[in-house]
Amino acid sequence: MKYPITLYGDIILRKKAKEIEKDSEGLNEIIENMWETMYYADGVGLAAPQAGMPIRMFVIDGSSGADEEPELKDFKKVFINPEIIELSGDKWVMNEGCLSLPEIREDVSRPDTVRLRYFDENWEEHEEEFSGFAGRVIQHEYDHLEGTLFIDYLSPLRKRLLKSKLNDIARGNVRPHYKIKVPVK
Ligand code: NI
Repeated sequence: MKYPITLYGDIILRKKAKEIEKDSEGLNEIIENMWETMYYADGVGLAAPQAGMPIRMFVIDGSSGADEEPELKDFKKVFINPEIIELSGDKWVMNEGCLSLPEIREDVSRPDTVRLRYFDENWEEHEEEFSGFAGRVIQHEYDHLEGTLFIDYLSPLRKRLLKSKLNDIARGNVRPHYKIKVPVK
C-alpha cells in the first residue's frame, strides 16, 4: 500500500517523532509500505512523518549515489529509533530536495560524517559511521524525526524568495506525480 506524502505546512512534519516500541505490531507492514511509497515517489529516502506517522523511523536506498560512490550500490537500510552520536568532518554543500517540498531544490551545507546508533528491521542494534552521500541523506531523514526541514537551513533571503512556492505547497496547491495529503494545520 502506498501512503500519501505529507506536505510542508502539515503539523506532523514539525513535531518530534516518538520512539517505536520493540516488536510493535504491524511494523513490518509499515516498513514494506514505506519502501513501496518511496520507490513509487522516486525518493532516495522516506521518513515516517512524511507518510503520516509520527514515529522514529526512516528508510533509505542510496544506490542512486553509486555512480560516484560504488560502495552504495547495495545500500538499502531501515533505521529505527536512530540516535545521532556525533557529526564530524568538513561541511559541504549539496543540492537537496524533499518529497514533502515538491519542486523545491536548494543548496544545503552539512557536516560530512554522521555517527549513528539505530535498530534495523530485525531489531538488531548497530553503531556505524556514514559519510558522503549516505551521511547526507541520513542527516536529512533524521531531521524529519526532529521536526526539521532542509529549508530551515536557508538564509532569510533564500527563504523569502521561496515564500510563494512554500505557500502554494502549504495549501496543497501542487501536483507532483505521487499522491499527496493536503496539509493539516
Ligand atoms: Ni525530506
